[in-house]
Amino acid sequence: CGIVGYIGKRDAAPLLLHGLKRLEYRGYDSAGIAVIGEERVKEKEEERAERDVSGEEGIRVVKRKGNVAALAEAIAGCDGGFLGATVGIGHTRWATHGDPSDRNAHPHLNEAGDIALIHNGIIENHAALRVELEKYGYSFVSDTDSEVLVHLIDHLWANIPFLDFESAVRQALSIVEGAYGICVISMREPDRLIVARKGSPLVIGVGEGEYFVASDAAPLVEYTRHVVYLADGDMAVVRRDGFKVKSIGNIERESMVTELDFEIEEIEKGGFEHFMLKEIFEQPSVMRDVMRGRVSVEHNALHLGGIQDHLDTLRGAKRMVILACGTSWHAGLIGKYLIEEFARICVEVDYASEFRYRNPIVGPGDVVIVISQSGETADTLAALRIAKERGATVMGICNVVGSTIARETHFGMYTHAGPEIGVASTKAFTAQVVALFMIAVQLRMGNPEMSGVETSVLLQELLAVPDKAEQILRLNDDILSIAESYWDAEHVLYLGRGYNFPVALEGALKLKEISYIHAEGYPAAEMKHGPIALIDEDVPVVFIAIRDHSYRKVLSNIEEVRSRKGRVIAIATEGDREIGRIAEHVIYIPEAAAALMPLLTVIPLQLLAYHIATLRGCNVDRPRNLAKSVTVE
Ligand code: G6P
Repeated sequence: CGIVGYIGKRDAAPLLLHGLKRLEYRGYDSAGIAVIGEERVKEKEEERAERDVSGEEGIRVVKRKGNVAALAEAIAGCDGGFLGATVGIGHTRWATHGDPSDRNAHPHLNEAGDIALIHNGIIENHAALRVELEKYGYSFVSDTDSEVLVHLIDHLWANIPFLDFESAVRQALSIVEGAYGICVISMREPDRLIVARKGSPLVIGVGEGEYFVASDAAPLVEYTRHVVYLADGDMAVVRRDGFKVKSIGNIERESMVTELDFEIEEIEKGGFEHFMLKEIFEQPSVMRDVMRGRVSVEHNALHLGGIQDHLDTLRGAKRMVILACGTSWHAGLIGKYLIEEFARICVEVDYASEFRYRNPIVGPGDVVIVISQSGETADTLAALRIAKERGATVMGICNVVGSTIARETHFGMYTHAGPEIGVASTKAFTAQVVALFMIAVQLRMGNPEMSGVETSVLLQELLAVPDKAEQILRLNDDILSIAESYWDAEHVLYLGRGYNFPVALEGALKLKEISYIHAEGYPAAEMKHGPIALIDEDVPVVFIAIRDHSYRKVLSNIEEVRSRKGRVIAIATEGDREIGRIAEHVIYIPEAAAALMPLLTVIPLQLLAYHIATLRGCNVDRPRNLAKSVTVE
């Protein structure tokens, strides 16, 4: 989900809406805003002088099922109540508890309508709290876990003497269990936003006489470059004249203002129809960015700043364990092949969600590498913490600068792919693979016992990859016409071997994420142990059949599919004359070292998924049920 908050001198509603648009990729089944208008504040102050104002409607809220555009329309249809409000909060939701609906959308209000709250995460003890609060007479209007929190704040504020807004929120947070990023406003103290985070990111944007709050930096960049990333367990009171950060347990905390490192253009579509397409096309330049300043062929050297001081630890590792989720996990699988081949260190790859609940064998001497685009994935973060607690060295490969995972690892490397907005990850994946390649080669370089492939050759090959990726992107129209023949498939199989087995998994994941076609990736040789039973004229098979040491074997697999009337799309090496005779469609890509091929073979698969999904009329940037950053378990 996405959170925005504003306090300052400008009209809050349009700013909040704009921010929500920028955050829509994080959740988009419903959206809402709540504001406190200046007029209303004055009115209330006068009234307050005369009598108790609690129980009166104070905060203006609009929420809608659907996207931010639907919310904007609803707001436009309201009377002037949203103008002149200079404090407010907004939310886009990715449903966890309660179906997407107006009523389950955030912000949630207390019964008096003078406290409004937005929440990312999950309140785990919500059911018990709900029962308790109902006993005190609270009635609930939504099915969400979040609504519990606003009533709890209300209840504590009303019943514990001398509490102010901040301490009422603090008290409530000491009772709830689970994960949260929250932003709360109240008519009773209308000059502040109260924010807190545990397991769900929050950033404060620092302006002049105005402050912003958001669940990531994307909506802030056009208003300010100065941000404060709240640490886990932080709570802040944000007013027009400044903000104060303490821990949720009320201990003073240091906060540091940092400068944002990306430009507004990076979060806009730049002429492309979708963010996903833009991000696919950005890959050559992203690859160059990941390598920038890090690769020197001339000196046969790599300068990986973040890990430079830890090379002995890495090289001395008993074994490595790569932990990640989703697409990052696929990059991790390629990382295993790379590190085992070049550094000869044993690498395991695990789903973070499995690792964390398995009583894993991990400890001193092990190096754990966590990979995460967002740096906020809940399972990956929890796995990291377990590995750290048990004494392993934990290294991170993250894209989002300042993210929680980046900060909690012992050391690591940023991928510098720029903000990735499309929910289906593309450029972050290729950036991760480039990073892993560089790490693997770096580890090899220090080892005098290793002969075989010259590292300088590998570096040269690496530098040549972005140009080759550009060449593949020129095939976009051809790939569109292939998509036109397959857009109505119900199942698609993806097969590859070696370095391209994880690419087969990634190709299948891309297709299912955005087109809702059932797709499976398999190691090509495993086909005969199961998937071959699925094959008939209605199940297209995508083969990654490049000329490497398993080429002949993959070719036999293609024959096997053809003899069962399967339709084959092959990703093949340029100049391959054989494959065209047996595959129905061939996408030819330039040759590169086997270890670098995933950076190339994945591109046609991304484009194929993109075109099939758009031909099916799917919203590729915001596929149903998915979220960009999964900060819940
Ligand atoms: C979600 C996203 C995927 C992503 C995965 C892991 O499922 O939709 O695109 O690969 O989370 O995210 P991370 O940010 O940790 O790489």
